[in-house]
Amino acid sequence: MEIRPMTDHTGAEVVGIDLARPVAAEAAEALNRAFVKHGVLAIRGQQLTPDQMLDAVQVFGPVFQQHNTRFALPDCPEIHYISNQDRFPDGTRYIPGEGWHTDHSNDVRPPKATVLHAVTLPDRGGDTQFANMAAAYEALAPAMRQRVAGRLAIQVYQSSHSTRKLMGLSEANKERVPTAVLHPLVRTHPDSGRKSLYINPIRIEGIVGMDHREALPLLDELLDHATAERFQYRHEWRPGDLAIWDNRFLLHKANGDYDMEQTRYLYRVMLQGDVPR
Ligand code: SIN
Repeated sequence: MEIRPMTDHTGAEVVGIDLARPVAAEAAEALNRAFVKHGVLAIRGQQLTPDQMLDAVQVFGPVFQQHNTRFALPDCPEIHYISNQDRFPDGTRYIPGEGWHTDHSNDVRPPKATVLHAVTLPDRGGDTQFANMAAAYEALAPAMRQRVAGRLAIQVYQSSHSTRKLMGLSEANKERVPTAVLHPLVRTHPDSGRKSLYINPIRIEGIVGMDHREALPLLDELLDHATAERFQYRHEWRPGDLAIWDNRFLLHKANGDYDMEQTRYLYRVMLQGDVPR
């Protein structure tokens, strides 16, 4: 197995491992170390059924139950799908994951990782972009670090300030998904000890003790800063890729920039995380 960094801050590709077979302890340790270091691993050349994917991802930790079960695969419900072929009730096309976000940050224990496995890809486009919020935090001016220190963000399923619309939750899912949780705006990675911003324009409704007139421009400024090109890694999908990323210090977004006559379809699973601190 070989692990090759894709940039000097985020992303590495992994070649020479077949996740359909049992992963030896030494390889599992190397993969977990690389995951913490690089944040995104693109494991090339996989051909996994949903059940095989479910087994394989547990090399990185236990599975998390995703919020919107309408995307669950009937025969393997822990695995959901991502597809450009779904529509909102009003008939407009739904492109999951458009707009910067980190997954399920409205959960008390948001998932530490998300894993996608490419099943069908468009001929071109449909990349996933990642932005490194730890590198962005480290590059903040001292005055801004002070301004965000100790602040708590109110995280909900769908922020009223979000420009991106999410697919609604069923009544049963609404009962299961927390209404609102408070998470620090700056969190410390439990494995690396690195501090990072923890922002999410789709989920953050406000900042505790701060008027919206101050909080919303502050959140916009932090997002602009964190998503600057120098903190980004852009993943160009190849058939057979299995990509895992760390939601604790990365933002990501999908790009609906390809021919919508073509299908983009991936399996998705998430892994359990801790309470952000
Ligand atoms: C997601 O946000 O989980 C999906 C990203 C993608 O489809 O590229």
